[in-house]
Amino acid sequence: MQVKDNTFLITGAASGLGAATAERIVAAGGKVVLCDLNESVDAHAQVLGEAARACRSDITSDSDMQKAVETAVALGGERGLSGVVHCAGVVSVAKLVDRKGNPADLDAYAKTIQINLVGTFNVMRLAAAAMAKNSPGEDGERGVIINTASIAAFDGQVGQCAYSASKAGVVGMSLPAARELSRHGVRVMAIAPGVFETPMMSEIPDEAAQALAAAVPFPKRLGRPDEFARLAEQIITNPMLNGEVIRLDGGIRMQ
Ligand SMILES: NC(=O)c1ccc[n+]([C@@H]2O[C@H](COP(=O)([O-])OP(=O)(O)OC[C@H]3O[C@@H](n4cnc5c(N)ncnc54)[C@H](O)[C@@H]3O)[C@@H](O)[C@H]2O)c1
Repeated sequence: MQVKDNTFLITGAASGLGAATAERIVAAGGKVVLCDLNESVDAHAQVLGEAARACRSDITSDSDMQKAVETAVALGGERGLSGVVHCAGVVSVAKLVDRKGNPADLDAYAKTIQINLVGTFNVMRLAAAAMAKNSPGEDGERGVIINTASIAAFDGQVGQCAYSASKAGVVGMSLPAARELSRHGVRVMAIAPGVFETPMMSEIPDEAAQALAAAVPFPKRLGRPDEFARLAEQIITNPMLNGEVIRLDGGIRMQ
């Protein structure tokens, strides 16, 4: 799968990892549909020019994501939609039992699962159905799906029951989805980032960010969004990458 002249759906594209991935794909000659709830997605698409379209959409909505996939299929012309880099997601922190002894809020837990896990399934199912209709390329390949998990799927910290469970769900879907979609020539991969410098992490106090950077064996810093985008590009172009989750974390293991 080449990037040049192919069309990719990028979710969470108004910010952080998704925005960096859209930039890299356009720089490599690809076309992108930028999906996000945030209205700033329109401005991001404008900056990227003719090769980009914006689609304000909620990844948990059937109709929004159908529209986004249709927009991408149309942008792709004869080649249709070639791939998805699904970055939209939310972080949440809540203890099972708080300092005053109150149990965690059940709706807040369900909301994180709904966005990060159910939203991922929604994006995958609609994109896969569209890509299954593509004409096969080399090796019979029709498309690629790249989901975003987190190292919290493996090394969840206190307060991360909802976030870790949602990302562990994304990890868990990778292999069964890859096995199922192999008959359509669609690969499924996930990236599990460590700690990256994005707006999602900007709420962390400076001291905590420095401590996290110091905990990375090498390089001793937070990840840069383009480093995520580079891995996404490699996954798109390397057909042997399938059914796997790649940690992209400088070797950090959360305590
Ligand atoms: N930044 C990190 O350190 C880090 C680490 C591990 C995993 N991740 C994961 O990477 C992904 C991208 O994170 P980021 O750091 O770029 O965050 P970010 O907050 O900068 O970007 C996330 C984007 O997703 C969008 N979004 C949220 N809910 C949505 C919904 N329901 N529908 C459509 N769009 C929605 C937001 O509007 C935002 O633009 C997330 O899934 C996150 O959990 C990030």
